[in-house]
Amino acid sequence: QTIYLKDYTPPAWLVDTVDLDVSIEADGTVVSATQTLRRNPAVADQPLVLDGEELETLAVSVDGREHPYLASATSLTLNDLPASCTLRTVVRIQPDNNTRLSGMYRSKDGYFTQCEAQGFRRITWFMDRPDVMSTYTVTLHADRATFPVLLANGNPVASGDEANGRHWATWADPFRKPAYLFALVAGKLDVLRDTFRTASGREVQLAIYVEPGKLDQCPHAMAALKKSMKWDEERFGLECDLDHYMIVAVGDFNMGAMENKGLNIFNTKYVLARPDVATDVDFENIDRVVAHEYFHNWTGNRVTCRDWFQLSLKEGLTVFRDQEFGADLHNRQTARIREVRGLRAAQFPEDAGPMAHPIRPESFVEINNFYTATVYEKGAEVIRMIQTLIGRDAFRAGMDEYFRRHDGQAVTCEDFVAAMAAASGFDFTQFMRWYRQPGTPRIAADGFWDADSASYTLTLSQSNPRASDDAPYLIPVRVALFAADGRLLPGSERLLQLSASSQSFVFENVAEEPVPSLLRDFSAPVYLDFDDTPEQLTVLLAHESDPFNAWEAGQRLATRLILAASTEIAAGRTPVWPASFVDAARQLLQSHAERGAAFVAEALTLPGETTLAELISVVDPDALHAARNSLSRHLAEQLENEFAGLYASLTVSEAYTPSSEHAGRRALRNLCLSYLVEFDGEAVRELAFKQFREADNMTDQFAALAALANINAADCRQRDSALAEFYARWQDEALVVDKWLQVQSTSRRPDTLATVKALTAHPAFDLGNPNKIYALIRAFGANLVRFNAADGSGYAFMAEQILALHDRNPQVASRLARCFDRWKKFDAGRQAHAQAALRRVRDHQGLSRDVLEVVTRALG
Ligand code: ARG
Ligand code: ZN
Repeated sequence: QTIYLKDYTPPAWLVDTVDLDVSIEADGTVVSATQTLRRNPAVADQPLVLDGEELETLAVSVDGREHPYLASATSLTLNDLPASCTLRTVVRIQPDNNTRLSGMYRSKDGYFTQCEAQGFRRITWFMDRPDVMSTYTVTLHADRATFPVLLANGNPVASGDEANGRHWATWADPFRKPAYLFALVAGKLDVLRDTFRTASGREVQLAIYVEPGKLDQCPHAMAALKKSMKWDEERFGLECDLDHYMIVAVGDFNMGAMENKGLNIFNTKYVLARPDVATDVDFENIDRVVAHEYFHNWTGNRVTCRDWFQLSLKEGLTVFRDQEFGADLHNRQTARIREVRGLRAAQFPEDAGPMAHPIRPESFVEINNFYTATVYEKGAEVIRMIQTLIGRDAFRAGMDEYFRRHDGQAVTCEDFVAAMAAASGFDFTQFMRWYRQPGTPRIAADGFWDADSASYTLTLSQSNPRASDDAPYLIPVRVALFAADGRLLPGSERLLQLSASSQSFVFENVAEEPVPSLLRDFSAPVYLDFDDTPEQLTVLLAHESDPFNAWEAGQRLATRLILAASTEIAAGRTPVWPASFVDAARQLLQSHAERGAAFVAEALTLPGETTLAELISVVDPDALHAARNSLSRHLAEQLENEFAGLYASLTVSEAYTPSSEHAGRRALRNLCLSYLVEFDGEAVRELAFKQFREADNMTDQFAALAALANINAADCRQRDSALAEFYARWQDEALVVDKWLQVQSTSRRPDTLATVKALTAHPAFDLGNPNKIYALIRAFGANLVRFNAADGSGYAFMAEQILALHDRNPQVASRLARCFDRWKKFDAGRQAHAQAALRRVRDHQGLSRDVLEVVTRALG
């Protein structure tokens, strides 16, 4: 059953207050809910219809008296209510049997909740929609010894003991909020406390709750929280409005983290870190996710979404904010490169596949299927384009205006853009197309230099075959012109606004044939078709002052070489690699001190297979894989001395810190190692194994393990020992075990599927834990060459896993089903296998709605 944006109507009833009494007992949890209701004066009279799921209804009363009601499995309807009344419902729920991890559920150390998007209805009868905002008071009761910590949103009001060794605690949240921001926790947890003083002098009590024994893995997240609070004050003038800000980490969690008001609940993956168990990337991700959830307190909580179609209103904006925070905190140049790499690896394929949708979808079957790269990452790109078009200061004024207009409200994407328009005077009418159309636009560029007039004419044309019509987008295109010797031509840096289907821009006083640099800083999420010559790209790689486009020039060079080689290999020929590419790579390696090790590491990382596959109409994954590997090996051969020399010289001798400077050095050094193992031999095996054994931090240890795990030779003593030792050492650190699974599922070895199958039976694997499934199964689905094996074995395996999981955890199963998104890009033989696997899933009796939507669209 499909839900449409165009069918939105405001709620017929408003809920001013919600009083919850939650009693955690041996045979279930009893939830008594008291809601004060009144008719919405703006809407014609309607019965009250509440949402519910898997609730055992024990009692219903209105104003203290029994009242007739109509209950179905998913709704409770009450007729003939007075215009305002108090509704009390009592239900029993079974959190111990809640394997979907939506609503209230049991995890190792206690009870946790996840209510976004529609989990609150699994806790009590309620109008579970984000435009119903209420003030909540919550009382929890539980056994004191088993669940010493009792938390809910807001401020602690009172607590005490009860009979039979039980205790209780009451929390009151002074802020009106939608039900999806509700949270409670009852468990045995350790806590790290701190405080933050806001710019205006308010003191906020900070607390991070984790599994007992993990306190030494919390300081980084705490520091990240304080940095986020400070950054939001400085960049956006936004202060924390809370007295208590709590983060609770839980090992079983479907997504990354959740911004519940004052009581964030996080996947442990984005909280726990210590140098010996977390990599540089983990540390940086924690900064970003902690900031993301904190930033939601304004962009999401103070101003929330009117309906779930508006999800990007809060997610796109908040991702943009966390990206900017990350860029300020770490390394702006590599941050942007990584964002775009991620966008191309995940969002571009999504936008070209069966699940393509606008950042504001117009319909959905299951909203959980739309927490996507499009809504989040493309959504952030759309916000970034707004800032690019109007400038940073006007953008800040627009944010101020947004809060001035909408604080405390549930609003739409149009409301956000209207505030930006009001503050800047910019006309966003045409720009709104970015909210309404799926698909990645393409820009075709053509340049013409006229010697006589000393002018350069750049013609840009746009298209989007996935859009519903041919109307043009408004696209910000940052450009600059360079001389052949790499000088920036003065006055050539411009921000073009491409608003027509085809448009020409003239640059005057261009005395020589220029090298154009287009889409600097990736000013729009589009494909760029431009016939730049290898010579021009080499100039940009060496001289472009915008680090993104310098990197991009290298990616474009490598992409063309790999795609051409892939065709050669498919035709049975051996690719030849031009010396100029090797020279450019050598120069990059030599310039690491000036250009930064982190940048050089990014520039020497070849484009990923998934990204490359999008550029080919019929993908031969084996040929593509062979082509990319062949280029890696060629670089390794030609630059062996450089790689070995840098590997030796880049050692970080100071004590570990995740600083971007150190992280950059480690990244480049480990990239050198990964090139060195390209020609496998005893010496490099020993080199990697020595690093594996001696590393004092997870970044280096894991990089060595990954290098060994990728060695193709049937036997490799060092590989086997490293994998065995790693597991033996880290088997009690769940997040490190995830790394161990993932390094095997993403290996390029031909026996990877067999390994993954064997690991599903390993004690380390657990179908009940989403992180384990993502690490082993979903990561395998992203292993282009192994998942898309010609015999269909990868597809058959994935179908089995989806069916094993769909009932137990539909959200996670549905994410696995997304591994089939690109099945139509392969040859007929592979397509037949994929189609058979998809049909097997689709035809399964009682398939969950989440998975059904994905496989139906994939097959359709
Ligand atoms: N709002 C959360 C975040 O971005 C994500 C929650 C998604 N949950 C879900 N069940 N789809 O930070
Ligand atoms: Zn978010």
